[in-house]
Amino acid sequence: MIRVLFVCLGNICRSPLAEGIFRAQAKAAGVVAAFDIDSAGTGAWHVGEPPDKRAQACAKGRGIDITALRARQFVPGDFAAFDYILAMDRQNYRDIAAQSALAEHRAKVRLMLSYGDSGRDDVPDPYHGGAADFETVFDMLDAACRRLLAEIQSTSRV
Ligand code: 4NP
Repeated sequence: MIRVLFVCLGNICRSPLAEGIFRAQAKAAGVVAAFDIDSAGTGAWHVGEPPDKRAQACAKGRGIDITALRARQFVPGDFAAFDYILAMDRQNYRDIAAQSALAEHRAKVRLMLSYGDSGRDDVPDPYHGGAADFETVFDMLDAACRRLLAEIQSTSRV
């Protein structure tokens, strides 16, 4: 099993979109059974809530159903529970890395857009934006997930 965790601040906009996109791509590639895919937030404000309505609508428009997802907070146990921990922005990265001093844990954490081609570091937080911001975020995540999946497929026997 290859365990992949997407992490943002609230776990209601960016990381549930990333989770849904990555799962859809893995399904399309016929390899979803090889993966344990999840998402979490560094903050606890929205724990137990479904994704933001705008994220749900954006995903639905692209044929992806994320309505069943529920927000949870990142916990230090996630370092051992996952192989790849993808931070949506640099603040998320710092907040995750601050929760373990172990090099083997920190080595699992990567910026999501280190797999992108946008020339940016951060997936912009669409929470205070509009529908167009969610579409932009979706496109960035779609491209980054494609590269992430390709890299995992090239380094693992998936
Ligand atoms: P996310 O967006 O990190 O992409 O889920 C946010 C959602 C909620 C909040 C911040 C960011 N909030 O402060 O409640």
